[in-house]
Amino acid sequence: MKITALVSLAAAVLAITDASPINRRPHGGVGHSVAHKGHSIPLTRNPHFKHNTKAQMAKLNKRYPGINILASGSGSVPLTDAPTDLEYYGTVSIGTPAQDVKLDFDTGSSDIWFPSSDCTTDACKKHTQFDSSKSSTFKKDGRSWNISYGDGSTASGILGSDVVSVGGVSVQQTIGLATDESSQFGSGPSDGLFGLAFDSIESVSGVKTFMDNAIAAGVLTKPVVSVFLPSVRRNGGTGGEYLFGDIDTSKYTGDLTYVPVSQPGYWQIAIDGVTAGGKDLGESSQGIVDTGTTLVIVSDAAAKAIHATIQGSTNDPNNGWLVPCTLKNSTDNISFKLGGTDFNVPLADLAYEDLGDGSGNCVSGVQGGQDLWILGDVFIKNNYCVFSQTDSPSIGIAPLKY
Ligand SMILES: *[C@@H]1O[C@H](CO)[C@@H](O)[C@H](O)[C@H]1NC(C)=O
Ligand SMILES: *[C@@H]1O[C@H](CO)[C@@H](O)[C@H](O)[C@H]1NC(C)=O
Ligand SMILES: *[C@@H]1O[C@H](CO)[C@@H](O)[C@H](O)[C@H]1NC(C)=O
Repeated sequence: MKITALVSLAAAVLAITDASPINRRPHGGVGHSVAHKGHSIPLTRNPHFKHNTKAQMAKLNKRYPGINILASGSGSVPLTDAPTDLEYYGTVSIGTPAQDVKLDFDTGSSDIWFPSSDCTTDACKKHTQFDSSKSSTFKKDGRSWNISYGDGSTASGILGSDVVSVGGVSVQQTIGLATDESSQFGSGPSDGLFGLAFDSIESVSGVKTFMDNAIAAGVLTKPVVSVFLPSVRRNGGTGGEYLFGDIDTSKYTGDLTYVPVSQPGYWQIAIDGVTAGGKDLGESSQGIVDTGTTLVIVSDAAAKAIHATIQGSTNDPNNGWLVPCTLKNSTDNISFKLGGTDFNVPLADLAYEDLGDGSGNCVSGVQGGQDLWILGDVFIKNNYCVFSQTDSPSIGIAPLKY
């Protein structure tokens, strides 16, 4: 769920609580406030991006014929942090010659889609529209396609296939070309979504995901996508990246704890405990690690237990859980136990966004209403996550280092 502008907070919070695990995701970008316009942070190329990897590998291939080292690599996609840590997107190239679209990378869904040049709705027209007739590698598919998210937003159109390229890693990929989009997408900062969950939750069954295809083609050094989400509070929202095919060990402290995926579909894991105010709250659940959801969403009971440890917090029927904005100065944490390790979320990040009504209250970064909990960006921007798609998939997690 992407909680966005102040004006849409109430609706957005309600939408999260409606999020069914099936058509789950309140998608990104519901009504960005005017106050935020022009504040978007320019793309910064990641310093770890290796332009010359392919040339180096070609040399190695000549030396070791028979071993196709060229086939394997990694690709880094620098991220833009849509203020304030609302949604993170990066540039993806589609077709030949490449047409660039800005996509919201989403580990909570599996489809890759963006507006088609055939789409005439207002929402489409506000974004980059892909023109398949200008791509020599585009292949028709013909099947119709549609997706709906937990906030009621929808998109539909037809499937096609083309070269999809992230940070230099390319595969021929089935894509959704939207010819109709609900209005919520018009105001969102990204053109569309790049799903990173498993193929079993593709909208059209039988479609393989980008990671499925990249792994099968052997173009990745490791079958992983590693995520570093920055935070405006901690580092100005700069340097974020999705690293396809490798792990950036400079981005975290200590070792990664690999938590087994309990049910592939979403990136679903067991959450074995929650600590807040220095005590174990006796709460546990299955949950998903979802880059496409802005906040952390837990059950009503867990949200109540967490906020009971935060003085001055209230549950407002219109805005959900509120906390005093003074929490921004706190150095304390709450933590989630995953794979035997406690992972911190600073209380400072629970003061997610000032209500702006002079009450001194902030919308809490933790909300209730989900029995399948969602560890969204409020969690991920504090903990490096490696989505590892081996035969026994797991998520490697370690505290983030800025
Ligand atoms: C959406 O797609 C599903 C699965 O392909 C299909 O059964 C359904 O009829 C479609 N719905 C609409 C409104 O097009
Ligand atoms: C945080 O502390 C500083 C210094 O005491 C103060 O000026 C500021 O208003 C505080 N911020 C919040 C959100 O309470
Ligand atoms: C809160 O978490 C951070 C990051 O894990 C840690 O460095 C810090 O010491 C924790 N604060 C407290 C009061 O334990």
